[in-house]
Parts: sequence; C-alpha cells; structure tokens
Amino acid sequence: MRIAVGSDHAGYALKTETIARLTGAGHEVLDLGTDSAEVSVDYPLFGRAVGEAVAEGRAERGVCVCGTGIGIGMAANKVRGIRAAVVHDSTTALLARSHNDANVLCLGERTTGRAEAMDAVDAFLTTAFAGGRHQRRIEQITDQERQPTP
Ligand code: RB5
Repeated sequence: MRIAVGSDHAGYALKTETIARLTGAGHEVLDLGTDSAEVSVDYPLFGRAVGEAVAEGRAERGVCVCGTGIGIGMAANKVRGIRAAVVHDSTTALLARSHNDANVLCLGERTTGRAEAMDAVDAFLTTAFAGGRHQRRIEQITDQERQPTP
C-alpha cells in the first residue's frame, strides 16, 4: 500500500518510527515532512498535505503525527473525502477502520507510547471496513460534506 505521512516538529520522531514500521512491512511511503524536530512548524500545513495526497489518490491512506494528533487531524479533516481519526492504541485504530472507514490515522507523540502507536499503525493497515450499517453512516458524512454550512 502507498501511504502518505506527515508531522509537525512535535511528531517528527514518531513519524520517523512510523516510516520505518511501514517500510519494514513492505509499504511504500510518501513522506510529506516535516524534516526536523528542532525547527518549529505549523501542523495545519502537514495535515492538509496528507489529506490532499489521500483525496487525490496519490496515496491510499495517510498517517499524521503532531503532539497530540488532534490539530493535524483537524486540518486533514478539512479536505473533502478525508476521514481522519485520532487514535491511542490498537483498539481505537481497529474501530476507526472497521466502523468509520478512516483513511487517515492521527497519532500524538506526546500522548501515546511508542509500542501502542506502532500497534495502532499495524491495526490501521490490516483492518478492513466492516460495511453493513456502517456504510450508511459513512455515506451520511459524505453527504454532509456537500451541504452548505452556515
Ligand atoms: C505543537 O506544540 C503542538 O501544539 C502540536 O503538535 C499539536 O499537539 C497540536 O494539536
């Protein structure tokens, strides 16, 4: 699978570990930055970049990392077609895939331990969407994206 990854400075170390995990499992990685933990950068740029890569089909899935996973996930979710989920372990990653058909995984370097984060990455990539009643709900989200907002 081709996977877009992005982080800010606060997620750089976990992004680097995630890339090693992904390539070790045979995936192709599109690294959209950032390139250092030392230089402070703004997470919305990287969340958007990962979201656009997935929405445009340059990658099948995405992984975003910031301090908490929250801000970068908010930015990724502004891209139409993106369902970015902040997860903390394999259970939340599995449910984000099977119930929510998440196409972007969001991790927090400051909030999730390394082992739990790697377990979440594995679950994100190996769990299929369950469909059924969940399909209807995903379609509602897609419809809501097309509706004008106040
Ligand atoms: C950066 O200090 C931090 O605010 C950012 O990585 C993230 O946690 C925001 O959601």
